[in-house]
Amino acid sequence: MKLEKAIDEFAKISKVLLEKEKSEPVLKYHGAGDYEKLINLSLTEEGCTENEFFKLLKEISLLTPRTNSKSFFNQLFAGRTGPSLSADLLATLLNTTMHTYKVAGIQVLVEKEITNAFLEKVGYENGEGIMNPGGSFSNLASMIVARNEKDSSILKEGYGGRKFIVYTSIESHYSVIKNAGMLGLGRNNVRKIQSDYIGRMDATHLEAEIKKDLLDGNVPFYINATAGTTVLGAYDEFNQISSISKKYNVWMHIDGALGGSALLSNKHKHLLEGSELSDSFTWNAHKMMNVPVCASFLLVKEKGLLRKHFSEKADYLFQGENEDLDLGNISMQCGRRVDAFKVWAAWKYYGLTGLERRIDHLFDLAEYAASCVEKDPSLEMFRSPESVNVCFTIDGVTPEKVCEYLHKEGLIMVGYSQSKGTTFIRMACINADIEKTDIDNFFKQIKVAAKALRA
Ligand SMILES: Cc1ncc(COP(=O)(O)O)c(C=O)c1O
Repeated sequence: MKLEKAIDEFAKISKVLLEKEKSEPVLKYHGAGDYEKLINLSLTEEGCTENEFFKLLKEISLLTPRTNSKSFFNQLFAGRTGPSLSADLLATLLNTTMHTYKVAGIQVLVEKEITNAFLEKVGYENGEGIMNPGGSFSNLASMIVARNEKDSSILKEGYGGRKFIVYTSIESHYSVIKNAGMLGLGRNNVRKIQSDYIGRMDATHLEAEIKKDLLDGNVPFYINATAGTTVLGAYDEFNQISSISKKYNVWMHIDGALGGSALLSNKHKHLLEGSELSDSFTWNAHKMMNVPVCASFLLVKEKGLLRKHFSEKADYLFQGENEDLDLGNISMQCGRRVDAFKVWAAWKYYGLTGLERRIDHLFDLAEYAASCVEKDPSLEMFRSPESVNVCFTIDGVTPEKVCEYLHKEGLIMVGYSQSKGTTFIRMACINADIEKTDIDNFFKQIKVAAKALRA
């Protein structure tokens, strides 16, 4: 197949898909077994013709959930803006990797430019950063650096029976616990710190747990604070947590996968006050910034630490004259996708002012959605949103049933979650292309579901 043909067909399928997203924003639910009747996915000994091939690609695309439509409020990624999309498609066409300057060339400079812009926003004056395939990975990389900084002998000798302890709030992302397990620290050695009414980590409980561990002879080494918790969208108090981290010499990471991008907004950056006091920071551009997945950065306050903990000798690969440009030396990965291009493209095209406008719009949408909840006597707010997640319950029907109904009927995609023993609908206002009328439609469909379920 000629590449030109592939590109032409891609453009044709894209147009059909975009139209479909408008006319039918939520794909009707199909159970995994239903697909057998709709399409033949089986792989065969012989290939197929170009026509058959592109027909199948189109069909599969049209059967994929439409997470970029204006009826998607289900998760913390969404959107797919033109500038990032074009850069990302070009990255696929270019198909190079980021490990050495020899093969990545100018893309290394692109990644450095956007990483430095984020470092400045966090407030790290002499920091460094690297992109990873997702926020969970950025969190993992930060935990590795923190552990090795606590005791570099671990790299060669292992833990030697000692318990290295992680502290994170009960509202934090599950990757923290999972990462502790993957690093052999033990999931039981993650202390789950209580949260306050808003969903912020309780600093008094944090300090008490650290003291207890020290008395027990354990090694406290990593506090994970969160900027924008996954469910409530809450921001921990970084100044307070930093004082504790400094007092006990424990690494402080901020997981800003969801809410780090608020640093781009003059109106909302106060939520991240004290971010510059942390040791590392996860920033996902594929969440509030609406860059296509995955676009995640680990930013580290002290330059040199990534190389110290992630470089390895490989003569067949690293042969550059300027090792600083061989980003494989500071990454957990070897081959690594060109992800920075699409993030750089978003900033280049919109400028900081345009990005700020988009972030502010998300907060405004959440505020508007909250006002819709407050106006409606059959809905009850769980907590006033601190950022872009709106969590509420509905009189007489369970959130689980409402979400299921909306999905199966092809009306809206939204999820439910729990905090402090209450289950609620979590509506994520994460797509900056959404307007207030889409929020109105969301609540209209919620009413439709509630009425049908009550009947
Ligand atoms: C606070 C937080 N951290 C980390 C992650 C994980 O990010 P990713 O899905 O890019 O791995 C999420 C995802 O929603 C999140 O909300």
